[in-house]
Amino acid sequence: MDETITSVLDEQRKFEPPHDAGANIPSFAAYRQWCRRFAEDADGTWRELAREHLQWQKPFTRVLNREHPPFFTWFEDGCLNVSENCLDRHVADGNGERTAIIWEGEPGDVRRISYRELLSEVCRAANALRQLGIEAGDRVVIYMPMIPEAAVAMLACTRIGAVHSVVFGAFSAQALRDRIEDAEAKLVITADGGWRRGAVHALKARVDQALYEGGRSVRHVLVVRRGGNEIDWQQGRDIDWQQALQVEPDACTPAMLGAEHPLFILYTSGSTGKPKGILHTTGGYLLWARLTMLWTFDFRPQQDVFWCTADIGWITGHTYSVYGPLACGGTTLMYEGVPTYPDAGRLWRICQDHRVSIFYTAPTAIRALIKAGDEWPRRYDLSSLRVLGTVGEPINPEAWMWYYTVIGRRRCPIVDTWWQTETGGHMIAPMPFATPTKPGSATLPLPGIDADVVDGNGLSIREGGGLLVIRQPWPSMLRGIWGDEQRYVDTYWRKFDGRYYFAGDGARRDEDGYCWIMGRVDDVLNVSGHRLGTMEIESALVSHAAVAEAAVVGRPDDLKGEAICAFVVLKAEASEALKQQLREHVAGEIGAIAKPDDIRFAEALPKTRSGKIMRRLLRDIAAGKRIAQDISTLEDSAVVSSLLSGEH
Ligand code: WT7
Repeated sequence: MDETITSVLDEQRKFEPPHDAGANIPSFAAYRQWCRRFAEDADGTWRELAREHLQWQKPFTRVLNREHPPFFTWFEDGCLNVSENCLDRHVADGNGERTAIIWEGEPGDVRRISYRELLSEVCRAANALRQLGIEAGDRVVIYMPMIPEAAVAMLACTRIGAVHSVVFGAFSAQALRDRIEDAEAKLVITADGGWRRGAVHALKARVDQALYEGGRSVRHVLVVRRGGNEIDWQQGRDIDWQQALQVEPDACTPAMLGAEHPLFILYTSGSTGKPKGILHTTGGYLLWARLTMLWTFDFRPQQDVFWCTADIGWITGHTYSVYGPLACGGTTLMYEGVPTYPDAGRLWRICQDHRVSIFYTAPTAIRALIKAGDEWPRRYDLSSLRVLGTVGEPINPEAWMWYYTVIGRRRCPIVDTWWQTETGGHMIAPMPFATPTKPGSATLPLPGIDADVVDGNGLSIREGGGLLVIRQPWPSMLRGIWGDEQRYVDTYWRKFDGRYYFAGDGARRDEDGYCWIMGRVDDVLNVSGHRLGTMEIESALVSHAAVAEAAVVGRPDDLKGEAICAFVVLKAEASEALKQQLREHVAGEIGAIAKPDDIRFAEALPKTRSGKIMRRLLRDIAAGKRIAQDISTLEDSAVVSSLLSGEH
């Protein structure tokens, strides 16, 4: 990350936003005006926005309840249904024939689903869930490829108040089982497989594996047929999705749910070994999903085609492939496969063919496409694009400039959006037709978001580096960690004595008050925009019989942002074959995204006298830096010398 930091510190370029009088926030003055409204009367502003932007079954009277910090609640005495807000509402408004989802499969098959059709399908699915005994509050795990049925499954859960937990399709059977067990899911919705890089990968088979020895809470598995894989049907447990939906009526009254009814759980990595189930609830989450679509992307539902390339297994896919665009009544595009299949022009061809106007992706994807060469985007007509977004990791100014010039042809504003699974939606980002941008900076907090950069004591830093915090609750904030209240308090609130939400990121603020996100300050890695805990990978490694001890650190990587470097102390004989075995072992425990890029066998790990692994030192060694730091506090400084000498 060092190179990024130096280039970011030198970055002086600034780009004025294009002018568009029809934009939802048409000027910097309008943005400032919103901020001022929140500063003067936050509760009143949220109240008005929540009334205007959501359809309530029962209106709320109370905006924010601060009685039990840090357990805040929003609009708690109101009732609403997410699927009704995302579907029925738009059909009732006369937009039933508008396309809700444009879907493209990797082999090239295309489906266009109108709001009316989506509503029918969601109702059938909701009825099918009820038939299987799913009730409000029950957890449903969704383990699916990027196909419309995944969105249908999510919305069907919300219709009856079931709590979904989407598990990324590339996670292993073991990781799937951990999540099923932690959530005590009653039902798993999956597919026979999905297309990736020209082949069908298996999903149902992994569900079978996950449920073979565990996941006792699961009563049924609903299986969508997509890839033509053979399915090993378990009598009484497994049910064919299409058959189950076929016999159900296409109407289903949306359940009346409290604004704080759990909407979904999404697992993400932290600094301990066990992923945490981030809990989001109904009203506040949906409000912010909709507002950020309108503000950060200047989404205009009557005209835009919005494409967020994230998989629904991540929060980005939840908020910006499904809930945000649908809550606005606009068109969202879903693509099943990988960005570089059959060639590096795939994304640009999709943008051209479906006239995508707002495109949202991760810096990793941008860097990979830069490497593939400018001839790919040049081949396609990208004139429909009007706003470009990035998310997930710091974007290096070079990649930003490429995105701006080669993809956006200097016409499209770039919105670099900083947020997290925990925040539910955007927190720091430019408003595309209002905020001047600087390559590599996420710029300023959204209206209503009280973000700050502070020192270790929580004192605000006007200009300079520090820790990123949020000082006031916001509607789409996480409500907790599933099944572990204490961990919620400890992870996010302990650091500043309950005063601020601590995000886990370092940031620098420049002379204009712009934020430059510097990356995680905890033991969390960001590999290709995917969040992984070092401890999680370490536990996976030590669960292998040949491993005595392991330490995992990140190392800067041009393409992935960070690469995974593991230092391993063995019980067995070292060999190249064992390295490969360990990489596969980690893939089996977590998923292919967690495979270490480097494995270095060591005789021992460098530790302080109190027995702590010296991670910073390992990071320096992994990055190939000269070791300048004092190693006299090490238990055995010979360990370091051997690590250094064993390097090449
Ligand atoms: C972490 C959250 C929520 C989007 C997907 C990732 C990093 C996210 C940016 C950005 C620099 C970013 C942070 C954050 N991050 N967006 N625009 N610039 N860093 O969600 O998996 O919950 O990870 O991603 O480190 O804490 P996530």
